[in-house]
Order: sequence, then C-alpha cells, then structure tokens
Amino acid sequence: MANSKYEYVKKFEIDDKLPPHNWIVVRIDGCHFHRFSADHAFEKPNDERALNLMNSCAVSMLEHFPDIVFAYGVSDEYSFIFKESTQFYERRASKLVPLSVSYFTSVYVMKWNEFFPDKEMKQPPYFDGRVICYPRAKIVLDYLAWRQVDCHINNQYNTCFWLLVKSGKTEQEAQESLKGTVSKDKNELLFQQFGVNYDKLPAIFRKGSCVYIEKLEETVKLDDGGNPVKRLRKKVTVGHFDIIGLKFWNEHPYILEEEK
Ligand code: GTP
Ligand code: MG
Repeated sequence: MANSKYEYVKKFEIDDKLPPHNWIVVRIDGCHFHRFSADHAFEKPNDERALNLMNSCAVSMLEHFPDIVFAYGVSDEYSFIFKESTQFYERRASKLVPLSVSYFTSVYVMKWNEFFPDKEMKQPPYFDGRVICYPRAKIVLDYLAWRQVDCHINNQYNTCFWLLVKSGKTEQEAQESLKGTVSKDKNELLFQQFGVNYDKLPAIFRKGSCVYIEKLEETVKLDDGGNPVKRLRKKVTVGHFDIIGLKFWNEHPYILEEEK
C-alpha cells in the first residue's frame, strides 16, 4: 500500500555515514562499573576473572564482526578498530555503535557463568559507546598509546592505593599519601613498603589487553618429496603487549595496513 501521506517523516533522518578512508574506532565503556564491580565483589585493584571475561567478549567481537582488525581493553572499557576501507552497514554510526555495544553486552551476560561460576549476576551490566574517525594509521597508534598510558597511570595509582588501604590506612589517608607523587615515587613506595616490583606484576594489569588476528604458518603435511606443505592459519589472539613502542606493530604490519 502506498504510504505517501506519512513518508515525509523519513526526510528528518540524518545521514550518519562516517567519512570514507578513515579508521573507525568504537569505544565502549561499562556504565557505573564502580557500583557493578562492588556489587559483585571484584578483587581490588584488578579482578583477573573480570578482565578475562571482557577479553573473551572482545574475542567474540572479532570472530563475529568482519573488519575489526584490532581491539584494546582495560578496566571496563574496550576499543574496537574497524579497518579504514570497511563498508560494514555502509559505515553508519547509528549501526556500528549500537551493534558493538549490544553484541558485547549480550556476550558478557552469556559468558558470566563461565568466568564466575560461584557468583550470581546481581545487576544487568550495560555499556555506553562512542565512535571516533581517524584519517591516518599514525593517529590510531597515538590513540592506542593514549589508552595504554591511561592504563599504566591508573593501574600504578590503584595498586599503591589498595596496598596502602589493605595495610591499615583509611581510603582518605591512602589518597593523602599519594598526593603529588610521580611515577618513580610510586614505584619506590611499592618496593620500599611492600616489597613489590611493579614491573613484575602481571602484564594484563600493567599493559591492558590486545585482541588481534595472528597469522600462523602451520605445516599440514609433508609432500611426496618429504618437504613440508605449509598453510596460513588465522587465529584471534589475546596478548598483553606494549603498543606504545613500534615493536608489536613492526611484527604485525598487516593489522593497520591501508588498502591500496
Ligand atoms: P561511568 O563509566 O561514567 O558510568 O562510571 P564507572 O563507574 O564505570 O567508572 P569508570 O568507567 O571511570 O571506571 C571503571 C570503574 O570500574 C573503576 O573505577 C572501578 O571502580 C571499576 N572496575 C573496573 N575493573 C575493575 C576490577 O578489575 N576490579 C575492581 N574492583 N573494580 C574494577
Ligand atoms: Mg565505566
């Protein structure tokens, strides 16, 4: 049936296609996770199971959505990078953000029991999401470095803070003793007062988590002449690397490669 009388309402819709040839970053962040983590008695400052649950959701994202080439997660946030040439949902912001947020949230709920078999989920977890476009891979690298620096600053502060609290200080006293300290002072405090070498703490806490596609060369069989027959296998992989320096990127040049 023709619907000409009402169809004009469509003219109010906004074209929200993201600009072409830009890398697309969708960053999701847990809403009120301060409360959510308290309600579920997450370990302080880092709950390894909660972080692994987030990572498992990110792995599902890369397996499910085409064109996500890399993801970086810390605390209750995850950034997903869609390759610059993606035509996924015509690059529409109003599709990419809610699809990412809702898929991630559903997987988080589905997998909760796998990671917390001893804990009932008491509140529904939910996430917000935003999209940012970067015209050059170099800026994507700087974006990721910005998130990893943030991870370091927060983790170092929180590690000191919770060790001080666990040693008997009130939260206010702990805050006072950390006021005005720089990174070196905090490392010193950890070592002098608690015998903790910050660099030896688990990398998942210090570096956050990277999810990407690793290309592995496998020998599938030997040919008649006894020579190995190799095959390239792609595997979604989680790692906790430094992504501020260029070592990881030089070893995986295909991740942020631009289409010719
Ligand atoms: P909004 O994002 O603005 O809704 O607030 P939020 O409460 O989620 O805070 P924000 O995103 O700034 O920071 C994440 C918060 O989640 C942290 O401040 C912690 O309270 C909590 N959180 C995340 N990961 C962990 C964890 O591994 N252990 C514990 N104990 N808390 C965590
Ligand atoms: Mg949050």
